[in-house]
Amino acid sequence: MKRIVISLGGSVLVPSLESHRVAEYAAVLKALASRAEVYVVVGGGGEARRYIAAARKMGISEAYCDDLGIQVTRLNASLLIGALGDAAAPVIPEDYRAALALKSPGKILVMGGVTPAQTTDAVAAVLSEFVGADVMVNATAVDGIYSADPKKDPSATRYARLSPGELIDIILREPMAAGSNTVIDAVAARVVQRSGIPLIVLDGRDPENFKAAVLTGTYTGTLVSESGKDPLPLE
Ligand code: UTP
Repeated sequence: MKRIVISLGGSVLVPSLESHRVAEYAAVLKALASRAEVYVVVGGGGEARRYIAAARKMGISEAYCDDLGIQVTRLNASLLIGALGDAAAPVIPEDYRAALALKSPGKILVMGGVTPAQTTDAVAAVLSEFVGADVMVNATAVDGIYSADPKKDPSATRYARLSPGELIDIILREPMAAGSNTVIDAVAARVVQRSGIPLIVLDGRDPENFKAAVLTGTYTGTLVSESGKDPLPLE
């Protein structure tokens, strides 16, 4: 069976507790788990940003803010595990060794953040290396990687394909802060480069579109790979 690691953005799964897509994603992930070994790394979303903003306002360090963010990613992971029920491993690993130990065949492994100064995209990239994933998919709130922030710059264009080196050049222009909104972080980009595992960045806001992307290979997004060979659909 093929292995897929999904970086499920908090901005997609839990933009806020009032507007989450946890039940919809649980159904989609269960459908995928009958076709592939599924690993999910959950982001912090709007609730993480609220905690980080409250802490920052009190002058608390960025590292501490990151740690708050990590705790929220784990809470979101816990919500997803609850919705997945028997389909998921019930415990959230706090490092990669634990992830390997907790994964059992047919069960979806869900985790959150691991260590400060990165995002869950980096966790997903490292987990992809650990498990020898066939593909990493970053389901986020934009439909790919752009030449500039499309919300601020109307002339920004989306890349259909990038090499890992080109991705790093784009990422390194961005500053790093807790709760930062860049589409993928520098640690993740470096790990994607060294692992050679293809990365797909796509819009995850519609869970059914996400499912179709993985199962049929039809998506709008950015493929990051040296060869340019698309790893989707999975079979
Ligand atoms: P993410 O940035 O990964 O979640 O974690 P997100 O913002 O919901 O993801 P997207 O944008 O939708 O894809 C939230 C925050 O938690 C901290 C960082 O401060 C990050 O911005 N974090 C997360 C860490 O410090 N280390 C980790 O391993 C994961």
